[in-house]
Amino acid sequence: MMEKKYVVAFDQGTTSTRTIIFNKEGEIVAVAQKELTQHYPKSGWVEHNPEEIYQDQLYTFKEAINKAKINANEIVSIGITNQRETTVVWDRKSGKPIYNAIVWLDKRTASICDDLKKQGLTNYIKENTGLVVDPYFSGTKLKWILDNIDDAKEKANKGDLCFGTIDSWLIYKFTEGIKHVTDHTNASRTLIYNIKNLEWDDTLLKALEIPKSMLPTVQESSSNFGTVFIDGVQIPIQGVAGDQQAALFGQGGYKSGIAKNTYGTGCFMLLNVGKNQVISQKGLLTTLTCSIENEPINYALEGSVFVGGASIQWLRDKIQLIKNAAETEAICNSIPPLKDIYVVPAFAGLGAPYWDAEAKGSIYGMTLDTGKNEIIKATVESLAYQTRDVLDAMIQDSGKEMIALKVDGGASANNYLMQFQSDILNVDVDRPKMIEVTAFGAALLAGIKAGFWQKEEIDELRNTDVLFSPKMKSKQRNKKYKGWLQAIEKTRTTKS
Ligand code: G3P
Repeated sequence: MMEKKYVVAFDQGTTSTRTIIFNKEGEIVAVAQKELTQHYPKSGWVEHNPEEIYQDQLYTFKEAINKAKINANEIVSIGITNQRETTVVWDRKSGKPIYNAIVWLDKRTASICDDLKKQGLTNYIKENTGLVVDPYFSGTKLKWILDNIDDAKEKANKGDLCFGTIDSWLIYKFTEGIKHVTDHTNASRTLIYNIKNLEWDDTLLKALEIPKSMLPTVQESSSNFGTVFIDGVQIPIQGVAGDQQAALFGQGGYKSGIAKNTYGTGCFMLLNVGKNQVISQKGLLTTLTCSIENEPINYALEGSVFVGGASIQWLRDKIQLIKNAAETEAICNSIPPLKDIYVVPAFAGLGAPYWDAEAKGSIYGMTLDTGKNEIIKATVESLAYQTRDVLDAMIQDSGKEMIALKVDGGASANNYLMQFQSDILNVDVDRPKMIEVTAFGAALLAGIKAGFWQKEEIDELRNTDVLFSPKMKSKQRNKKYKGWLQAIEKTRTTKS
């Protein structure tokens, strides 16, 4: 019997699928990654192929084991973390999806949202699911599939279809159809899960005509989700969480009062507000944090910014101003901070705190001497400004001042951005040594259930690398942020 020394995280994100192997010290032993194909069948529509997601996850799992030169026997447990809200419907018997996965960024269900508003459900949804009526969440995407795919409704009513977010889909595939399950964090993003009584919500299922039989069983984020069979070995899946809640957990955010911001495809700030649900008055969401068996569940306030790192990808792939994300740091440092140009990357509408699905991306403040580097810099800075918008809302909602913000995710590696973030927020920005905190959070959930780690060890395993402190004068900060708010006002299609 080989000694069990490693925990594996499956990190299925919006643009890539990865497997990361961690050792007992929380260090990365190996990473394997595949880019995920994005499908844009119509303007505002975004889809993924669920089979590709599963195949890529399996492929990167095998590759990571090879790279780490370990034996599958040495793996204690698997944790899964995923892009949230993205919706898959598949046939219960064949295990085949009946349509592509509709991605969280997809806006096709705006009219279904309007219907929900007309039915007077806006406040009910806010109080019982913690969410706002927006195409972002799974419920309306699921209804769209049932309404638009041949025979889907009949099959669903007969109990022949399964719905799942990406975690459910991967577990179903990896357990060969034995398990149709999800966890609290993912369920809390569907628009049909009641975060007060922790049950699927009958009122909303009725409003959206979704049969309950197609929904997964919801369980604690750190619990048994079935087993994966690989290289002749059975490995348990014991951690599951949506990527943003996993990152909060990895940053030590199982405790109330801890906040983090993850710079991924979007930017997502979460603050653990404790055991009592806080209903936002400022355009934030209330969501469930990672749950552990026999422990009370905590709530978080969340500021969801749809386009963060995706705007850097846009610079690279669409308007081709850069070759890779890493070069933006030197470019930003090379431009004097004299002129204020603002890129508002509302490429998928605006999320928190504005919730304007129709808004489109825009650039303000250009003059004849504006070149590509100024646009690159303004795009990078837009991540920091959007984060300020949600931080201000969070302070007002929670009534708490924030002293330090813990950060992680790809763009947190950009020192210019982190310093600018600290300057614009006027708070310390705390970046850990290991910025793959999302994957680490999922590994922790699995490792805790397996008895490999204790929850109390998280702070020890997480080491601060750099603490960025504000250097900008308040006059300059206020001027810059005022300019941003003006750019936002010009971009919005709905005013509150
Ligand atoms: O809610 C969407 C979020 O889960 C996507 O995360 O890491 O792909 O930006 P990410």
